[in-house]
Amino acid sequence: MNNNLNILIAGQGGREHALARALKESSSQPRLFAFPGSDGMNEVAPRLAVPQGQDLFETLKQESFDLCVVGPEQYLVEGWADRCRALNIRAWGPGADGVQLESSKAFAKDFMVRHGIPTARSTLVHSADELRNSITEYPCVLKYDGLAAGKGVSICRTEKEADDFIRRVFQEQRFGEGSVLLEQYLEGPEVSIITSVSDGAWHAFPPARDYKRLRENDQGPNTGGMGAVASRDLLSEEEHARIRKDIIIPAVEGLQKDGIPYRGFLYFGLMLTSAGPMVLEFNCRFGDPEAQAILPLVEGDLAGYLYEAANGDLQPDRIGFAEGWSVCVVMAAGRYPEASGKGETIEGLDRIGQADVFHAGTQRGIHNTFETNGGRILGVTARGTTREQAVQSVYEQVAKIEFSGAQYRGDIGRLHFEESIANKRAGQGARGKSL
Ligand code: AMP
Ligand code: GLY
Repeated sequence: MNNNLNILIAGQGGREHALARALKESSSQPRLFAFPGSDGMNEVAPRLAVPQGQDLFETLKQESFDLCVVGPEQYLVEGWADRCRALNIRAWGPGADGVQLESSKAFAKDFMVRHGIPTARSTLVHSADELRNSITEYPCVLKYDGLAAGKGVSICRTEKEADDFIRRVFQEQRFGEGSVLLEQYLEGPEVSIITSVSDGAWHAFPPARDYKRLRENDQGPNTGGMGAVASRDLLSEEEHARIRKDIIIPAVEGLQKDGIPYRGFLYFGLMLTSAGPMVLEFNCRFGDPEAQAILPLVEGDLAGYLYEAANGDLQPDRIGFAEGWSVCVVMAAGRYPEASGKGETIEGLDRIGQADVFHAGTQRGIHNTFETNGGRILGVTARGTTREQAVQSVYEQVAKIEFSGAQYRGDIGRLHFEESIANKRAGQGARGKSL
C-alpha cells in the first residue's frame, strides 16, 4: 500500500474532528486535509484550498488524493461519494443507491421488511386525511419520509400531538413535500451500532448510546445529541450475537441481494425491546456525537483500514479497540437549540488533561483564542477502565472549560445505567398492537 496516504475529510463538525484525530494517530501516518474544515480541526487536518473557479473534486484529482472520507449525510445525499468515484478517487461513503437507507424512511422500511430485519410495523401515508384515518392507537410514531435534520420524527401520545405534526408536515410543509410513515410505538433502551461495510464484508465498532434531549433525565427538546457513551461492555455477548445474526448480517446480505453497492459506515439505530433488538433507523455515516465517544477507542491503522475498505478489501485486523469505557459530554451554546450564542470566548482549553476535546462550533477570535460559533460548541471525551471512572474523569475536564451561557448535561454515562438496564428491559416491551 502507498505510504503516507493523502486523505480528505469532508465536513466540519465534532464527528469530523474525531475522525481526523483518529486518522492522525494511524500508524501509517497519513497526510490529512479537511473541506470545508474548521479552525478547531485545522491543527490535525488543515483546510484544503480549492483554487477559485475549480471544483473540489477536480482539486482532489489534481492533488492525487488517495481517499475522501465523507462525514455528513447531506454531502452523501448530494452525491459526493459518487463524484469522487467517477474520477477514480476512492471514497468512503455510499453512493446514491445506498444513501436512501438514510434519506428515505420508506425505502429503509421496505428494505427491512424485504430482508426480514426486525423493525416496528408501519404504514406509509400520503395525505393528512389518510394519516388521521390510519391512526388506531396512542402513542404512535410519525416519521416524515425524508431528511429533516432530526426534526422529522414525532412520538405522539395524544390526538393533539398528532394534529400538530400533521399541520407541520402537510399544511405548512416544513420539510417540503412528502409522505409520512406511521409506525408502531416501541419501548426499551436504545443503542447505536456503527459498522464499516465494504461490499459483502462488515466490521462493527464498539456500541454506543447517545443522549438526544437537551436536559438531564431526558427532558427538554431534542437536539443533535448532548453526549454519548461507548464500550464493548454496553451489551452482553448474547446481545452482540443476536444483533449480528438478526440485524447486521441480513442488512449486509440484503444490500448484496438488492445489488446496492455500499462502501462506507452503516449505522444501525436500535431499540432493545423485550421481543429482541429492532431497527429504528439506518444512517449511512458515523453518528455524532457517537463518533466522539467511539473513535478515541480505535487503535492501529484507521487510515490504511479505510483506504483498503474503500477499495473493496475490508481488513478488520488493521484496527483494534481499547477495552473499557469512553464518555463524551457535549457543551452547547446558550439558548441552543432554539437560537445560537456566538462570539463568547472559551476559557480553559489549555488546562485540559487526559481527555480529547473535539470542536463542533468554534472559531478563532481576534486574539487567536477560540470562541463560540453557535450550536453545539465542543465535545469533551475521557476514557476509563470502568464507566464510573470515565464519567468522573470527563466531568473533571468539562469543569475546566468555561464560556458564557454554556449548557451541558450532568448525567451523561449515568442515566440509563445507574438503574439497571436489565430491570428496565424486563418491565418494557414491544407494546405495539397492530396499526
Ligand atoms: P429515528 O430518526 O427514526 O431514529 O427516530 C428518532 C428517535 O425517535 C429515536 O432515536 C427514538 O428515540 C424515537 N423513535 C423512533 N422510532 C420509534 C418507535 N417506533 N418507537 C418509539 N420511539 C421511536
Ligand atoms: N446521534 C445520532 C445521529 O448521528 O444521527
